[in-house]
Amino acid sequence: MKHKIRILIGLLFFNHCTITANESKTVPPKNPVIFLTGAAGFIGSNFLKYMFDKYPAYSFIVLDALTYAGNLENIPSHIKKSPRFKFWYGSVNDNNIVNPLMAQSDFVVHFAAETSVTRSIFSDNKFFETDVLGTRVMMDSLVKNPNVKRFIHISTSEVYGTALSHPMDENHLLQPRSPYAAAKSGADRLVYSYCCTYDVPAVIIRPFNNFGPNQHLEKVIPRFITHAMQRKPLTIHGDGSAQRDWLYVTDLCKALDQVLHLEDFDTIKNQVINIGSGKATSILEIAKIILKKFNLPEGYLQFVGDRPGQVECHMSSTKKAKKLLNWQSTVSVEEGLESVIQWYQQNKQWWKKLELMQFVPIKTTNNLIELH
Ligand SMILES: NC(=O)c1ccc[n+]([C@@H]2O[C@H](COP(=O)([O-])OP(=O)(O)OC[C@H]3O[C@@H](n4cnc5c(N)ncnc54)[C@H](O)[C@@H]3O)[C@@H](O)[C@H]2O)c1
Repeated sequence: MKHKIRILIGLLFFNHCTITANESKTVPPKNPVIFLTGAAGFIGSNFLKYMFDKYPAYSFIVLDALTYAGNLENIPSHIKKSPRFKFWYGSVNDNNIVNPLMAQSDFVVHFAAETSVTRSIFSDNKFFETDVLGTRVMMDSLVKNPNVKRFIHISTSEVYGTALSHPMDENHLLQPRSPYAAAKSGADRLVYSYCCTYDVPAVIIRPFNNFGPNQHLEKVIPRFITHAMQRKPLTIHGDGSAQRDWLYVTDLCKALDQVLHLEDFDTIKNQVINIGSGKATSILEIAKIILKKFNLPEGYLQFVGDRPGQVECHMSSTKKAKKLLNWQSTVSVEEGLESVIQWYQQNKQWWKKLELMQFVPIKTTNNLIELH
């Protein structure tokens, strides 16, 4: 009898192992339920719109704490009214909310975070609470819910700090230079540790600087555009020579779509993948392009002290994303700016309400308290 029980246990164990091995290779479920955190914010809402309209049979669950950066107006009414969409107001720090949502989901994309570098200099508590501890709750829940087949953690290029070599590949040192970047580095490595320890089906995506519709006025491109629209000066931090790799948000959406639909997830499971254009443009050049589009003279440029901990240059290596995801960016900075300018021109009622939240006072490299 004891022998029979042992064989039974052995068979069950063997079957379990076989199923696990096969499962990680499975093609995505036909009509998945996708759980998005932070999708009332800029990138998450753009991704929700992109996926909802592209895949008419998919369902979406959004969890968002609606902080100053979250805005239900970012989610169009055709989505809000749809039976394919459910919204939950709540925090990723609350496992009582996260666990049941994870239990209903096939895929997860974790966008929720505090995201402003300047605000993290102004006050950083929330950054560690949400970005690190919130991600821990998400990972703990992922371990408990093996129904989830793919988990995308949205990290950031900020984890690298200033480029030590160009372009920056995924093996570049992590040298975060702001509390925001440090919190995101913590989250990024926390996800990696869960991959190693619990073999969860996660992938870490490091997007470079995104821009596009519905981005908060605290971020540089919306600030420049809305100031140019109002004939206000465009404030440049330092001399404006800091360079970024600018990525139009729909390009990131396409990369994430690829991650969710890649046939063999094992090729990217537990990997880190940069998502950037491979080109760098300085903040000063961006300001000048915007002034030109509004026919404004360069006298509208106003220089203030630099942000402490400024990242001097970011330029992504595009090799890994090309190889593993067959993805590369398609929208140039010029084209992206053209389209995003139109969006801010057509959506004044959306951004006017955010003006009060545009600046915070920080001590700049001028040794002055300045609004950034
Ligand atoms: N914007 C960029 O250029 C960029 C670049 C690289 C990576 N990222 C990363 O992409 C993600 C999204 O960035 P974004 O620019 O859309 O940010 P965002 O600030 O526009 O939106 C963040 C969203 O998260 C929500 N949120 C905050 N705390 C929460 C909590 N505790 N629980 C649930 N929801 C919460 C907010 O309400 C908001 O809707 C972030 O993880 C960010 O670090 C952004």
